[in-house]
Amino acid sequence: MPPLPPSPAGARVLVLGGGGREHALAWRLAADPEVASVLVAPGNGGTDGEPKVRNLALDPADPLTVASWARRERPNLVVVGPEIPLLTGVADALRDAGVPVLGPNRAAALLEGSKRHAKAFLERHGIPTADARSYERSEDLERDLDTLTYPLVLKASGLAAGKGVAIVGSSEEAHSALAALARLPGAREGILAEAFLRGEELSYFVLAHGTRYLTLPAARDHKRLDDGDRGPNTGGMGAYSPPPLTKELDSRIRETIVRPTLEGLVAEGTPYTGVLYFGLMIDARGQPYVLEYNCRFGDPEAQVVLPRLGGSAFALFHAAAQGEIPPRLDVRNEALVGVVIAAPRYPEAGDDGSPLEGLEEAGAEALVFHAGTRRVGGRVLTSGGRLLCVCGRGKDLAEARRRAYTAVGRLRLPPGARLRRDIARDV
Ligand code: AMP
Ligand code: GLY
Repeated sequence: MPPLPPSPAGARVLVLGGGGREHALAWRLAADPEVASVLVAPGNGGTDGEPKVRNLALDPADPLTVASWARRERPNLVVVGPEIPLLTGVADALRDAGVPVLGPNRAAALLEGSKRHAKAFLERHGIPTADARSYERSEDLERDLDTLTYPLVLKASGLAAGKGVAIVGSSEEAHSALAALARLPGAREGILAEAFLRGEELSYFVLAHGTRYLTLPAARDHKRLDDGDRGPNTGGMGAYSPPPLTKELDSRIRETIVRPTLEGLVAEGTPYTGVLYFGLMIDARGQPYVLEYNCRFGDPEAQVVLPRLGGSAFALFHAAAQGEIPPRLDVRNEALVGVVIAAPRYPEAGDDGSPLEGLEEAGAEALVFHAGTRRVGGRVLTSGGRLLCVCGRGKDLAEARRRAYTAVGRLRLPPGARLRRDIARDV
């Protein structure tokens, strides 16, 4: 193993994005002694006010703007938080400018950007996934609905911010769900109809360059809006780490999913650099299946995974951005439980301008990562759908969970703010 590229002292990092995941990234990077400053574009009310961190008014999804800023300012590292900049080619533009960037090029990011492309890739490489039919036009699927087997999962192929999936129990339900899905911009490039898989979900992350990779701590997300996994799907209402994951399951995931994915990408001429997130379903026999690929950290999973990284996160990401995957990872032996606080009308709509109070009191008990917030004068106001992710840390999940909910109890939230009371309850 060659030595890792030296990490520069006094490093300057740019984080792209403005959600809870990006607050956690900025906070974690700022904790490394070799990092002098972290800029977050555009950031939020939490990154604005974090030691060593500042917000930067820059459109994170515009490759020309980001690359010309980076050519001028020469940051030591750019970390791309969300998927949209990856799909508009921001990582490609930064690589062309010679700036180290953690995130895949556009061609590799299509694994997330097009579910039809991802399904075809999974099938080409014999990677376990739900059987599916791929439709270019929703009218063609409409004609088949009465002959398909239920329950069935309908998915808009393109990006839909967590709203592009409908699980339907009958053809009647499927007709109305399809009508709604077909209106999403993400459905323009087609729709998948796939078999419904039963089991436990797992968010599995690797840091990869080509076929080399390091496994990061895994997490479990709670995607449904309401307690008991009811209500509509959301971007994620809470997460915890570590999730139950035996050595045997871990090696099955590596052998049947991670390795063939990275090798397949290299063989197809779209090698991957960055964090690759496998959204998995583990069935009752312990067999893992890929539900989806994401080309980035999860949100809210990042908020419970990043605090568990020991050593220097900057050195790790900087090395990976330059093609060196360290031989091993330091993981802190602690547990985190993150509870998302969302706006009253989430996921349909966000909230704007309501005060969020009690943040300091909550922060004395848990990590409080901001998402849809902004700072005006000395106050923090709502400005989005998911507002905060309150993360308790402890020696085990029970302790972490207790701390998270104690901290939540200290917040003074807008009336009707939503949160789940059962994050990590069943472990
Ligand atoms: P996706 O965006 O593809 O991950 O889908 C969002 C959520 O829908 C997943 O996290 C699962 O909870 C659910 N889901 C997706 N595909 C399936 C499937 N084939 N079987 C059961 N649930 C699924
Ligand atoms: N929490 C799910 C995601 O980030 O896609």
